[in-house]
Amino acid sequence: MANLEVEFCGLRFNNPVLPAAGPPGWNGAALRRCAEGGAGGLVSKTLSVQGARVPTPNMAFVRNAFLNTELWSEMSPRQWVLREFVIARKTGLPLIVSLGYSAEDIATLAPMVAPFADAVELSTHYIGDDPQPMVDAIQAAKAALDVPVLVKLSPFRDVAVAARAAQDAGVDGIVAVNSFGPVMSIDVESGVPVMGSENGYGWLSGPAIRPLAVRCIFDIARAVDVPVMGVGGVSRGEDAIELMMAGASVVQVCTAAILKGPSVYGVIAAEIDAWLDEHGYASPGDICGLALRRLQGREVRYAHLPPEYDGQACIGCGRCEQSCVYQAIQVVEKKAILSPERCHGCGLCVTRCPTRALTLSW
Ligand SMILES: Cc1cc2nc3c(=O)[nH]c(=O)nc-3n(C[C@H](O)[C@H](O)[C@H](O)COP(=O)(O)O)c2cc1C
Repeated sequence: MANLEVEFCGLRFNNPVLPAAGPPGWNGAALRRCAEGGAGGLVSKTLSVQGARVPTPNMAFVRNAFLNTELWSEMSPRQWVLREFVIARKTGLPLIVSLGYSAEDIATLAPMVAPFADAVELSTHYIGDDPQPMVDAIQAAKAALDVPVLVKLSPFRDVAVAARAAQDAGVDGIVAVNSFGPVMSIDVESGVPVMGSENGYGWLSGPAIRPLAVRCIFDIARAVDVPVMGVGGVSRGEDAIELMMAGASVVQVCTAAILKGPSVYGVIAAEIDAWLDEHGYASPGDICGLALRRLQGREVRYAHLPPEYDGQACIGCGRCEQSCVYQAIQVVEKKAILSPERCHGCGLCVTRCPTRALTLSW
């Protein structure tokens, strides 16, 4: 068995799968359920100086996309301090308290949450493109707290620029990414946008944003030396592995836990364990940033190189033939026959093949 324990900015997590700020940790009891579901640590819903007024409806699952128009916590900081954090702390897991948004807000909130927070995570979701308000918020948190200060970046800005500014401001770690948007989805039966916000806008999360999260994590990990927590579209162990290979040491999960319940944390952790074991790695640290190392010195290829084919592994499902626009593959008697002279080396068939009968060499 791999050793799943991870250290992040001095915090020790039993495993590298945490809830992301949002409904999975909307109050103390929900955070306790995350702990019972196998999370390695806890992250609470973002709170600010005043409880948010959140429009309804504010969450929707629409054919592989998840939209929300939640804001920050509807509860006051007082309620969090008097009740919710007390419950969360009883789990014994490290607690990261998510705070928003301006330097003034953080200066007010920091002393209130200090007795409960093992670290704070500052959301930058609503503070615009200029990195300065984020820098000011980081400095306010650093001045008021002795615990690690993390900053969470949104994927619709230049994350490398923001990450460098955060590092220069003294941040201890970066969390990437928040949900993407604004986006919109319309219920075609009624013609009404599914989100109850004024303009019908919402924010996208879940599997649809995973490639965006992977790219952002990759860019941040290349830009700074502080550690990165990855978040965006993780719903199984392999997704978490992907974010780690991009440079994350720990992952957070929100949408999958909303859809499947808090037991996903333990399930994903067990899947990471099994994957590491099968692939001969001793710990998540072994794969952190692997893609950055693999890409070093790689030359861009222009040759129309056909994939390699393993007839034993082929189940003749025909997906490769179906999606080969160059007509370079034909499935005959449950086996794929490749025509290398027609192949453009696009690689799509490799990603369509469910059994790795088709592979590309690098
Ligand atoms: C309903 C909902 C509410 C959210 N609320 C917050 C929040 O309060 N603070 C925050 O930093 N991120 C919030 N997020 C963003 C998530 O923490 C996470 O960054 C994003 O959803 C991507 O991860 P996922 O694909 O695992 O959901 C929220 C996401 C959803 C879906």
